Amino acid sequence: MIVYASRTGNVRYIASKLNTEPIEISEELMLDKPYLLITYTDGLGEIPAKVVRFLEQNANFCKGVVVSGNSNFGHTVFGGAGDKIAATYQIPLVRKLDLRGYQADYEAIQKFYETRVTG
Ligand SMILES: Cc1cc2nc3c(=O)[nH]c(=O)nc-3n(C[C@H](O)[C@H](O)[C@H](O)COP(=O)(O)O)c2cc1C
Repeated sequence: MIVYASRTGNVRYIASKLNTEPIEISEELMLDKPYLLITYTDGLGEIPAKVVRFLEQNANFCKGVVVSGNSNFGHTVFGGAGDKIAATYQIPLVRKLDLRGYQADYEAIQKFYETRVTG
């Protein structure tokens, strides 16, 4: 399973490049299977509030996190949501993408997904 949060469409685009039908995060979503999380970065290197709430219920099955950010925010906070999720929940930060990223990013994410999430 691939679960994502997107505000302006970049993460939705990234998720659409993967070979699996993604599920958008919602308040009530409760998962009972391993999944890969893809999120954007908010504030100054912050985890979006809805992702915080989602993880409070669902962190157990999260096998990795992919983050999108905008490198114009500066390296200390670029993709900070991914760094914080990885540190808090002790899971791998699979990839940090600038905005929509590149084909090589989608391939690396797909490979991780197949070997470490569904594999
Ligand atoms: C209010 C706001 C704050 C943001 N803060 C950060 C930030 O601290 N670090 C970062 O890397 N990107 C930051 N971004 C950029 C987004 O994370 C980035 O554009 C991302 O690709 C958005 O994904 P989405 O289109 O799926 O919502 C911010 C964007 C907005 C609108």
